[in-house]
Amino acid sequence: MNSHRLNLNFAGLNLKSPTALASGILGYSAESMQSIVEAGAGALVTKSVGLKPRTGYANPTVIQAKCGLINAMGLPNPGIDTYVHEIRHAKTILTVPLIVSVYGFSAEEYAATAHKAAEAGADAIELNVSCPHVKETGSEIGQNPALLAEVVKKVKATVHTPVIVKLSPNVTDITATAEAAVKAGADALTAVNTIKAMAIDAETALPILSNKRGGLSGPAIKPVALRCVYDIYEKVKAPIMGCGGVTTWRDAVEFLLAGASAVQIGTAIALRNSSVFEAVNRGVSAYLRKKGFRSVNEIVGLSHRS
Ligand code: FUM
Repeated sequence: MNSHRLNLNFAGLNLKSPTALASGILGYSAESMQSIVEAGAGALVTKSVGLKPRTGYANPTVIQAKCGLINAMGLPNPGIDTYVHEIRHAKTILTVPLIVSVYGFSAEEYAATAHKAAEAGADAIELNVSCPHVKETGSEIGQNPALLAEVVKKVKATVHTPVIVKLSPNVTDITATAEAAVKAGADALTAVNTIKAMAIDAETALPILSNKRGGLSGPAIKPVALRCVYDIYEKVKAPIMGCGGVTTWRDAVEFLLAGASAVQIGTAIALRNSSVFEAVNRGVSAYLRKKGFRSVNEIVGLSHRS
């Protein structure tokens, strides 16, 4: 593989490939994240962590939809004071940037959690302001540009690492929230989190997820995520991680052409396995070679030229 074509700098982070692990899958333990690095990921995003431990929702928390997954885990996590040990351990074995995803129920909570994660060695912070179903956090913050700006400003005042804001697709105009985040100081954006969704069992005549509503991910949302990246790239000057249904190298290339500088992969690991990273990297590299490009950067946003 011509891996030199795949190196890139994302908001100050050096990625050896344009594929990163998305938050929410295999991003708890240092060992599981190391297996994703060995599979070819250029960066890792942890499962979201908050100030205090959370059990999350009762089962069922994940179900398979036709072209993806619907999940409502409820942000289960051990709390940042416990998780810092995993971050420190991860930093001793991982060879790619570690991005810690944080959530909070107030700007102060986001900032305090981000501060502890950064102190423990996180290379960057991804702000989860887009979980579509946990009340008083996530998209309840990320759908409101003023609240979102307050969170970003507080976090930026607290940490020195790059701050990446993971946006919600569950808005009328994603460029408004993207702009608010960047104006408040965000270094980069992840577009997008899951789309609010649900499933009902015809036999029991009841919603299947214990939380009733969850978030849809996977191939079903790729065209929506792609459009979000395209819209943001047109209006906002900030690096973007494309996220939503990336399963093949062609998906990744489409996100790069739309304006993403790198892509995150999550659901494809569950629906397939972690070999998806190498398959996507190889395919992107072959595409660049075939089209005569020397690096990934050369195709970022190329679809906007007409
Ligand atoms: O339920 C969850 O933990 C999901 C979080 C998210 O979608 O951000």
